[in-house]
Amino acid sequence: MKAKNCLIFGGSGQIGSFLIRKLTKNNIRVTVVTRNIHQKGLKIKTQGNAGYIEIKETNIYEEKKIEKLFSTADYCINLVGILYEKKRGNTFKNIHTVFPTLLSKLCKKYNLKHFIHLSALGINEAKDSNYAISKLEGEKNILNNFSKTTILRPSVVFSNSDNFSTLFMTLLSRLPIFPLYYSGKTKFMPIHCSDLTDVIYHVLSKETHSQIIECVGPEILSFKEILEILLDLIEKKRLLVPIPLSFAKLTAKFFQLLPKPLLTEDQLRLLKYDNINSGKYKTNSEIGIKSKLFFKEEVKKYSFMWKEGGQYSLEKYNYRKPDVEK
Ligand SMILES: NC(=O)c1ccc[n+]([C@@H]2O[C@H](COP(=O)([O-])OP(=O)(O)OC[C@H]3O[C@@H](n4cnc5c(N)ncnc54)[C@H](OP(=O)(O)O)[C@@H]3O)[C@@H](O)[C@H]2O)c1
Repeated sequence: MKAKNCLIFGGSGQIGSFLIRKLTKNNIRVTVVTRNIHQKGLKIKTQGNAGYIEIKETNIYEEKKIEKLFSTADYCINLVGILYEKKRGNTFKNIHTVFPTLLSKLCKKYNLKHFIHLSALGINEAKDSNYAISKLEGEKNILNNFSKTTILRPSVVFSNSDNFSTLFMTLLSRLPIFPLYYSGKTKFMPIHCSDLTDVIYHVLSKETHSQIIECVGPEILSFKEILEILLDLIEKKRLLVPIPLSFAKLTAKFFQLLPKPLLTEDQLRLLKYDNINSGKYKTNSEIGIKSKLFFKEEVKKYSFMWKEGGQYSLEKYNYRKPDVEK
């Protein structure tokens, strides 16, 4: 059977790498679009079977170049997203609203079989977050423009190449005390990246056109519980200190000035809301793709690098030195 062609925007990131592997293994050719082929090309090329991956370089404003890519595509998946705004065109509105709207119009014009767009969980509730507002606006436009769309709203996504468990383990191993925003009570349902890509593949291959699907992991964990699990895994003891909101806002004002912000004011507002399934939309379990991977068990597989001794902290290096005297 002739392989179908899937156009992936933002495929060089965390979810993209897992997705390229999943799709190419299943006889789907991918055209991965990146802003910088020199920086990302090699990484993208090595994520799947040779001959199944094509890489194109454009940015989100080059409409003509983007349109050309649609003439040979069967499916389109949009993984482009940002957590904080940067100068020039890198705004939530441009990236989460304007760009996906353009993609959905092109999906319609070129009569694609399916458009899958990655949004985020909890955006209906977080009415005071610019991130959430831009994602929600993007979703609305897409659904208006192209009916063969599926919107996936994941909770926080983790893997060995995430910007979540790995970042927190780095911070926890370096800082003597760690702030608990909103007393650490915000709830999450972390989903492993490979569970999420199983959902994306299922939606694509079964042509599931449920409009919005909430993608969640198998357990509910509070922010504090997540930090405690990570501390346990890296065998460190740290003080987890609840901090008043006014102080949290002050730290966010400072942190967002860093080149790669640790926390922005917008993220602080977002953290106020639980990141769990709403009950208003189907979840991945309800479409038959239950998440299998638990946070602690999976993070354990790579957390040892944050322990004292790194890879030498592993059991297999715990041997007794030969007694050379005898
Ligand atoms: N990771 C999570 O916990 C999580 C949770 C909920 C929702 N999501 C959503 O899922 C999607 C994928 O997440 P991810 O974790 O794979 O993200 P990621 O690792 O940050 O990758 C996103 C990709 O978007 C592209 N990109 C970033 N900034 C851009 C910009 N200013 N203009 C154009 N392209 C840009 C980059 O591709 P190039 O550099 O190659 O151009 C990057 O590889 C996003 O929409 C995100 O909002 C993620």
